Amino acid sequence: MTAKVESAIAELREKLWKAKQVVVLTGAGISAESGVPTFRGEGGLWKSYSVMELATPEAFSRDPKLVWEFYNWRRELLAPLTPNPGHQALAEIERGIPHFKLITQNIDGLHRKAGNTDITELHGNIWWVRCTGCARLMEDLRVPLPEMPECPSCGALLRPNVVWFGEMLEPLVLGAAYEAINSCDLMIVVGTSGTVQPAASMGSQAKRSGATVAEVNLEPTPYSGTYDISIAGKSGEILPKLL
Ligand code: OAD
Repeated sequence: MTAKVESAIAELREKLWKAKQVVVLTGAGISAESGVPTFRGEGGLWKSYSVMELATPEAFSRDPKLVWEFYNWRRELLAPLTPNPGHQALAEIERGIPHFKLITQNIDGLHRKAGNTDITELHGNIWWVRCTGCARLMEDLRVPLPEMPECPSCGALLRPNVVWFGEMLEPLVLGAAYEAINSCDLMIVVGTSGTVQPAASMGSQAKRSGATVAEVNLEPTPYSGTYDISIAGKSGEILPKLL
């Protein structure tokens, strides 16, 4: 770790423990060290699989079996994985800071496994399913699920409770996220490439509202230069140093 990175970490640590309201926004990068593939970059999911064929409402209408096959594969991959030191550090930070909100784009459920409780899941959660008939929402941890899982209430086809491309984010979820962002004095953006809206511009929104914004990412992102602090490195190594 270079002296520049060490000093940026020290600056962020000081700001973190002095802040009154803290928001952390995470993306796939925080789960990478747990073995979850990211979406873009080397080995990224969208490099080998087609978003349009697997993660859109049109794909699900056309071929629900194929879409469920993809999500069952992801559930199998995720089931044995455990939180890494980056997730654990965020759980520790939540326990230590009275006004702490975690916003994630991840659907893997690893933040909850690590012990965070106040989590806004922008893109849903792969361990929850939603009925396409009666809209009932259920947690379902079976691995794998049947090829075409059915609702226990009405028998209609279930779908993963995740947000697909072309779909709106849940308004209540989005509202909760913006409320936290607009009232925080420190926001830390971790492990996201900043390519998918609205999450991509949430750091800029926090800055406009007067917060200090920091980024922790293995690589520079389109927003790195606009934030107050930018720390290059693995979240599993950097975040524990904030404790
Ligand atoms: P991406 O795959 O686009 O970006 C992952 C980011 O994590 C990159 O900027 C990497 O540099 C960084 N990264 C990788 N390993 C890291 C590590 N160990 N520590 C810190 N950073 C690391 O993932 P997201 O930005 O989360 O949406 O993608 C956003 C959305 O696009 C996802 O939620 C998903 C996807 O399509 C939906 O499915 C709706």
